[in-house]
Amino acid sequence: MERPAWAPRSIDISVPSVSRIYDFYLGGSHNFEVDREAARKALEFMPGLPKIMQANRAFMRRAVRFAAGEGITQFLDIGSGIPTFGNVHEVAQAVRPGARVVYVDHDPVAVAHSQAVLEDNADADVVNADLLKPREILSSPQVERLIDVNRPVALLLVAILHFVEDADDPYGAVAELRDALAPGSLIVLTHASYEGIPLPAERAGGAVDVYKDIRNPLIMRSRDEIARFFEGYDMVEPGLVPMPRWRPETAPEDEDPYAFSGFAGVGRTA
Ligand SMILES: C[S@@+](CC[C@H](N)C(=O)[O-])C[C@H]1O[C@@H](n2cnc3c(N)ncnc32)[C@H](O)[C@@H]1O
Repeated sequence: MERPAWAPRSIDISVPSVSRIYDFYLGGSHNFEVDREAARKALEFMPGLPKIMQANRAFMRRAVRFAAGEGITQFLDIGSGIPTFGNVHEVAQAVRPGARVVYVDHDPVAVAHSQAVLEDNADADVVNADLLKPREILSSPQVERLIDVNRPVALLLVAILHFVEDADDPYGAVAELRDALAPGSLIVLTHASYEGIPLPAERAGGAVDVYKDIRNPLIMRSRDEIARFFEGYDMVEPGLVPMPRWRPETAPEDEDPYAFSGFAGVGRTA
């Protein structure tokens, strides 16, 4: 298989990756046949998967506009993925020119492509790091250059925590990040769940198994388990809700039923 310029030498392009599968669902071009094969297998069980991803991106953009409207000028987006249409820096900088954005991902394709997209953007950068090592993220030269942790930051954890098993203590990592950021900071979060999926959990489980097979298990959590990530935050209205119901700009009734799978919320520290 020929290796395109955007695929770093370090990656094994015969193994599917979560970020490239996601890129495929969103209509991107940074994916390989192995990724598309895994994606198609998951689609057999959950044909509405791309609708979930689109609702996730749409929520993220509304939440970034909300944060920028509240006066936030710094964004730390962990699990940012392969850049696609309507990225955080584009949305944030459209509202607040000069807004600073640091992307973080542990996937080399996501990092390489982000570097290429951000080449001419002095106010945005990317770090190759793991959510589970908050100190490495916070002490990275990119964060030190662009983010002042003594002023409010919007921390984005959008469609990432469902890739972290309880055994790896995602709650601990989220709490460490919360404690490192100034009061008035926001957390912007989405998470997959069997709650709200318009088909029986056993059938949706077939799609979840595809991720297990590629050794990136998808951890479906209940609404209560997802709410625990907001410990120490006050919920911004309307709370933890299905994605289309968070401050919608168009009638939620018009959304595809799949878009109501999983939960989205924004919290603020006092
Ligand atoms: C489904 S994508 C979400 C991308 C973007 N946040 C969005 O919602 O559109 C999940 C991303 O999280 C990244 N990821 C998963 N676990 C991670 C970890 N422990 N540390 C850093 N990134 C991680 C994956 O590489 C992938 O790019």
